[in-house]
Order: sequence, then structure tokens, then C-alpha cells
Amino acid sequence: MQRRRQTAVQLTSSPEQTRSLGRQLALRLQPGDLLSLRGHLGAGKTTLIQGIAAGLGVTDLVSSPSFTLIHQHPGRIPLYHIDLYRLSAADVGAIGLDEIVDSEAVVAVEWAEKLPADLLRNALDIEIVFDESDEDARRIHLRARGPRSARLLSSLTENCDADTRP
Ligand SMILES: Nc1ncnc2c1ncn2[C@@H]1O[C@H](COP(=O)(O)OP(=O)(O)OP(=O)(O)O)[C@@H](O)[C@H]1O
Ligand SMILES: [Mg+2]
Repeated sequence: MQRRRQTAVQLTSSPEQTRSLGRQLALRLQPGDLLSLRGHLGAGKTTLIQGIAAGLGVTDLVSSPSFTLIHQHPGRIPLYHIDLYRLSAADVGAIGLDEIVDSEAVVAVEWAEKLPADLLRNALDIEIVFDESDEDARRIHLRARGPRSARLLSSLTENCDADTRP
């Protein structure tokens, strides 16, 4: 049996490349998948989610949630886009995210470090970091927390020719 991949790194050099990675990922997503995104302001979390939304067949606009924490987008699989930036980790427990995470939607969470650890058990962690080589360069670190996201990551990297350097 093929060994499942736990981690991978993808380099992108433009917002469009990051969206394209999101579309590739979306083709492999299933109802109930959780994507936990981290990265500094302006790293590209929303940009990646725009690509994921496009790949899920979402046709309405995916933007940075301003005062709305949770956006639900209908698509081939419904997408929840959640941005926890303005919430304290203590408040996150109060907004009922466990029901959303347990739903048959794809859930993409920005500032996911504020989520309680038990909600993240099966998540695919995605950390986007600025790369010194160029202002539009990003390193996108992917890490599977459970077998389900490991399958997702294996499928993504098989077909995307992932850069797997540490
Ligand atoms: N390779 C790249 N991938 C993604 N975005 C890029 C890239 N190069 C440049 N950018 C630009 O960086 C910005 C990323 O903004 P985005 O809103 O996606 O970040 P974010 O991580 O969601 O920020 P925030 O924490 O404020 O929500 C955009 O202006 C985008 O055009
Ligand atoms: Mg954002």
C-alpha cells in the first residue's frame, strides 16, 4: 500500500498560483473536510480560499470577512469560510463552531490557531509564509493531522508535483 503523506510544501509566486493550488485542493475535498489556515496578515489565506471556493463551484464572492465571522457559500459541496482574527481564543468556544465542523460542508478557517485542539483532530493544516526571494513568493506548508487529511494530501501531491523540500 502506498505510504500516506503527512507533510508537503508548495511554493507559489503569484496570487493566481495560490488560487490554482486552492482549486487543485478543492477537486479532492469531501463533505466534512476541515482546512485550518494560519499565516500573518496578508499572507494569502483568503486568496487560497478563493481558489478552493472556485474549485468547489462556489459562484458568489469570497472576500475577507469584515465584521462577519462566518460566511456560508453554496457550491458542489457547501463551503463555510470562517475568519477568527477578531475573536479571542476564549470567545471561539461560544460561537458553535463544533456543529459547523461536524457538518457535511467543507470548512476553511483563517487564524485557526484560535480553534480548540479537539476540533482540529482531522484537519489539514495550511500555513502560508512569506518567502524572502520575492514579495509575491509564498511557501505553503501543508500538514495532515489524521488519516483522512493524509489521504487528501497524498492525492494533491501525487498530481501537483509537490515541492517536498523541508
Ligand atoms: N503568492 C501569493 N499568494 C497569495 N497572495 C499573494 C501572493 N503574492 C502576492 N499576494 C497578495 O497578498 C495578499 C494576500 O491577501 P489575503 O487577503 O489573501 O491574505 P490573508 O492571509 O487572508 O490576510 P488576513 O490575515 O488579513 O485575512 C493579496 O493582496 C495578494 O494579491
Ligand atoms: Mg484573510
